[in-house]
Amino acid sequence: MQAPDANALQGRRILLGITGSIAAYKAAVLARLLVRAGAEVRVVMTPLAKQFITPLTMATLTKHPILVDFFDPENGAWNSHVALGEWADCYLVAPATANTLAKMVAGVADNLLLTTYLSARCPVIVAPAMDLDMYAHTATQHNLAALAARGVRIVEPTEGELASGLQGKGRMAEPEQIVASLGAFFTEKKKLTGRHYVVTAGATIEPLDPVRFLSNHSSGKMGYAIAEALARRGARVTLVSGRTALAVPAGVERVDVLTAEEMYRAASEAFERADGAVMCAAVADYTPAEVADRKMEKGEGELIVRLKRTRDIAAELGARKGSRLLVGFALETHDEEAHAESKLGRKHFDFIVLNSLRDAGACFRGDTNKVTLIDRAGREELPLLSKREVAERIADRIETLNA
Ligand code: C5P
Repeated sequence: MQAPDANALQGRRILLGITGSIAAYKAAVLARLLVRAGAEVRVVMTPLAKQFITPLTMATLTKHPILVDFFDPENGAWNSHVALGEWADCYLVAPATANTLAKMVAGVADNLLLTTYLSARCPVIVAPAMDLDMYAHTATQHNLAALAARGVRIVEPTEGELASGLQGKGRMAEPEQIVASLGAFFTEKKKLTGRHYVVTAGATIEPLDPVRFLSNHSSGKMGYAIAEALARRGARVTLVSGRTALAVPAGVERVDVLTAEEMYRAASEAFERADGAVMCAAVADYTPAEVADRKMEKGEGELIVRLKRTRDIAAELGARKGSRLLVGFALETHDEEAHAESKLGRKHFDFIVLNSLRDAGACFRGDTNKVTLIDRAGREELPLLSKREVAERIADRIETLNA
């Protein structure tokens, strides 16, 4: 991510949504920092948030009335959530409770903050704040993933002492950090505008009969994160996807495929019109030589299945890439670097992303990855990062190579 420029927030219209969390007290500092950075700030609060911080405090800091109710009980005037959403350059919900995040996912509209979310046309950023177990809960993690897949940006909570007295991840990011993320968001230049990339992702499925198939453990998360990172930088992205449970990232065009052969056809057709491709899919190397058209019945003895080679999609695109960019992945269990370097040359990748299954945190379904980026000039070993962060680093390299 580029360093935000000091004037990034000058004149920006920030709608600050405050929900009912103890971290709401930090919203006062946040609003003050935003105003000091030159932003115009309006505040919408949930009814519960008023119990943590007063509207008077927020109104004094932002010099605007605070909106909580759908209408003013004094004179019956409506507070228009549509107008608020249209006014804002960015809707920042900080703190965002588990409850509000869940309602945002489901489209519940039982307060002004949520109706504004549903009608907002501007980018949305959330800064979650909650107890560590609530944050780690599958429900919350699913909700955050669903929001991220819709293009909502998340300023991750930090680790530390929580209001419950427990220690762990769930503390809302400090106001300074939220302001920095917002600044980075506004300065981020869409440097890949006008470019078109193909990203392959997920596992292919090779049928044995109408019921069974051969496949692998790939979740598709890494490829989806790359597609999302490229799209956010302005690129057109064709995501050729094997079977996954993931939602299509915002602004990405997905082509669903099943087998390696289907993936080959879809990827090579899209590659013709593209500026490059990132080959992230876990493609089957072998497929059953014959596919039974009826369910195979079991017999007494062993079953021998004959397999034939599939096409190596990356190698075929590499052979005809010309000046287009090609990025590969190598998942290895031994002699990692030697294998990755050989693939870099053989498949004509511009760089290859090596993961080793021997590294803790680099597992199939997880949200983290530990990779080394290898090109002809050398290696860059990255620390254990979230898959989203790894995707950002890969997108940074693509940006540099395409500059
Ligand atoms: O040779 P290996 O399968 O380890 O190479 C991994 C790289 O090649 C990955 O980028 C993967 O997406 C790509 N690949 C492919 N088609 C295949 C096999 C691998 O595109 N049939």
